[in-house]
Amino acid sequence: MEAVIGDKMQTSIDVKLKEYDLSLLEKDYDRISVLIDDTKKLNRVCRRINKLTKGAVVRAINSDEYEKKSCGEVLSISFPGSITAKYIDLIKWVKPGQLHDARKAGVNLAKLSGDSSVLIYIGSQKFSADFIKGYLLRQYSFSEYKTSKITKSRSATLMLNKPLDFKKSLEEIKATVDGVFFTRDLVNEPANILTTVEFSKRLQKLSTLGIEVEVLEEKQLSDLGMNALLGVGQGSANPSKVVVMSWKGGAKTVQPLALVGKGVVFDTGGISLKPAGGMEEMTMDMGGAGVVAGTMLALAKRKAKANVIGLVGLVENMPSSTAQRPGDIVKSMKGETIEVINTDAEGRLVLSDVLWYAQERFKPSGIIDLATLTGAIIVGLGYENAGVFSNDDNFCKTFMNAAALENEGAWRMPLAPAYDKKLKSRLADMKNVGGRDAGAITAAQFIQRFINKEMPWIHLDIAGVAHTKSESTYAPPGATGWGVMSIDRLISEKFENIK
Ligand code: BES
Ligand code: MN
Ligand code: ZN
Repeated sequence: MEAVIGDKMQTSIDVKLKEYDLSLLEKDYDRISVLIDDTKKLNRVCRRINKLTKGAVVRAINSDEYEKKSCGEVLSISFPGSITAKYIDLIKWVKPGQLHDARKAGVNLAKLSGDSSVLIYIGSQKFSADFIKGYLLRQYSFSEYKTSKITKSRSATLMLNKPLDFKKSLEEIKATVDGVFFTRDLVNEPANILTTVEFSKRLQKLSTLGIEVEVLEEKQLSDLGMNALLGVGQGSANPSKVVVMSWKGGAKTVQPLALVGKGVVFDTGGISLKPAGGMEEMTMDMGGAGVVAGTMLALAKRKAKANVIGLVGLVENMPSSTAQRPGDIVKSMKGETIEVINTDAEGRLVLSDVLWYAQERFKPSGIIDLATLTGAIIVGLGYENAGVFSNDDNFCKTFMNAAALENEGAWRMPLAPAYDKKLKSRLADMKNVGGRDAGAITAAQFIQRFINKEMPWIHLDIAGVAHTKSESTYAPPGATGWGVMSIDRLISEKFENIK
């Protein structure tokens, strides 16, 4: 995969497609990885390896160790016989293996292979795509700040019966994986590097891919009346910005889909300061904006025939003598006033103005917002599922379906007027917090106040899934890129080729 955004792409993996050729087995790959199906009948590749290793393959697949493994798990043979490769990986396949088992197999192989060069033979084209997707996703690493950087670029060779037929799907896979990697890179960056200014610069580089990028500065935001957003950033030395990215791949007459992301580059809580323990994690509070950016990159790279606008609100939530205070009242772009009870409930303030702006300016056919919005969603769903809130059952179902197919955890949560009542303010039109109980729902209710009645809308609270301390399904510890694949799939299924 070529470096995408200048030299900033952390991981680059070169996938070579080769025609079926048994002599490749004797070239100097570090590893040779093959799929063994549950009949244990060896195909020609495996028979040849078995011969070169004096029967090691047959012995391995008849062992107890192999027996105990499940579909997609790998048994490796080390320094086998007269073969150049250091390892032979036997990937166990049990019928009826699903697409996510193929991805799991790819993930497992990626974890074993690290920087080594791998020759892979899966046999079936159908599973090769998901296998390689899992493999690429798990090969990601972020070592920008390790002095002894792993510089060796990674490569994998996929041996196929018909490599030409696979080229197009590989291109599409690479486009989405690049999108996921762009998101992960942004989310992994520390806040002294990825300031609002640096973030907007990285987004501006997307214009090289054909995305129109526009950066709105504080003066313009103020003229537009985005005081809710500006209030959050007013305590920081780093200026607040809204970045608008447009991908116009569809017909001119088709209204766009809008993607809106919370981009709090660091969330101290502001004057309602967070406790010190774990505060460093708040470098990921721009995760929603990261997913919007990564999805835009994926769309452009695969030249999606859809119209999509990505909007991100970039601010830093700091305590200082110019910071917003608890009790301050701000007037949002919509015209409604908000009493800021807690300056740490800042994400919804940022989103309220960006969502309103998105609807006013672009009249989208639907809106999806993403935000690392509440600790409460982590209490409810942990790190396995994002919270999904929607005012439109059909739109929501198509998203849930896409998320299930991409194996990204998503769980629908309720909205109801009874929760909305908790946002009543004595002095203003609303307050920005609704209390401890149902915290993720009252946050969603707050946001819904800035969504027009007829507008199909999905709100994704990704606080638990954007970044995890331990490894996740497709990523090493740290940023996951959760959501890029699901939204990209949703777009390709429902928003492309519309007339
Ligand atoms: N960025 C946080 C939410 C968060 C918490 C994200 C943990 C990732 C991990 C958000 O701005 C926040 O501080 N929310 C408050 C809201 C409360 C003050 C109503 C929270 O969840 O505690
Ligand atoms: Mn906060
Ligand atoms: Zn926050």
